[in-house]
Amino acid sequence: MSIYISPSIMCCQFEDYSDYISSFENKRVKNIHFDVMDGHYVKNIMLGTNTYKELKSKTNLPIDLHFMCNNPEDFIEYFSPQNGDWVCFHPETTNHPHRLLQKIKSLGCRAGYAINPGTPLSYIEEVLDELDYILIMAVNPGFAGQTMVDSHLDKLKRIKEMVNSADRNIDLVIDGNTTIENAKKMVNAGATGLVVGTSSLLKSVEVFNEEYENYLEAISNLKESQ
Ligand code: DX5
Ligand code: ZN
Repeated sequence: MSIYISPSIMCCQFEDYSDYISSFENKRVKNIHFDVMDGHYVKNIMLGTNTYKELKSKTNLPIDLHFMCNNPEDFIEYFSPQNGDWVCFHPETTNHPHRLLQKIKSLGCRAGYAINPGTPLSYIEEVLDELDYILIMAVNPGFAGQTMVDSHLDKLKRIKEMVNSADRNIDLVIDGNTTIENAKKMVNAGATGLVVGTSSLLKSVEVFNEEYENYLEAISNLKESQ
């Protein structure tokens, strides 16, 4: 399976969005990762509906909305994600995670859970039939530029086993500190997608353009080469 890249738009300067987007389109990235932070579930506050609408007006690439919010059902209703977008939330932030997954799918979106280093995997076990993807946090959510929590690799392996034994096709995407060296470990542990941010390809548009192919090459076919 080829590994895909999901650039995190929170790491891009607003005034450079057009340049970044044409670069993402040229490189045929799978989607654009979009962090929504409410200042409660996480301390940071960022990326609102105007930015989402701006992106939707600039590109047909799917947006991967990552809700780091308490009561994500309210935020999801307010954002009104569009058909083909990806939408994930942290299951411990809502009273009705199963219902919310179904709601997201009813909008024509791919539905996912975001799992922190400290989130128990039993949340996933209960809804395997509903999940299209799982966003596994390599860092605690809220900020770019953090160092990965090593235990997420073991967590990823355990998630992979659960998904395989249920015979489900669920994307396993890692978010946070996906440097090229860390990314190799993540892919070897079972990642199928990687959110890239300040620690790797999104240092600037130029770095993204120059390093993208190297990065993909370094993380692709790792398993075959071992
Ligand atoms: C949090 C964010 C961050 C960030 C990733 O959900 O998605 O993880 O953009 O970028 P770096 O590379 O700074 O960890
Ligand atoms: Zn994110």
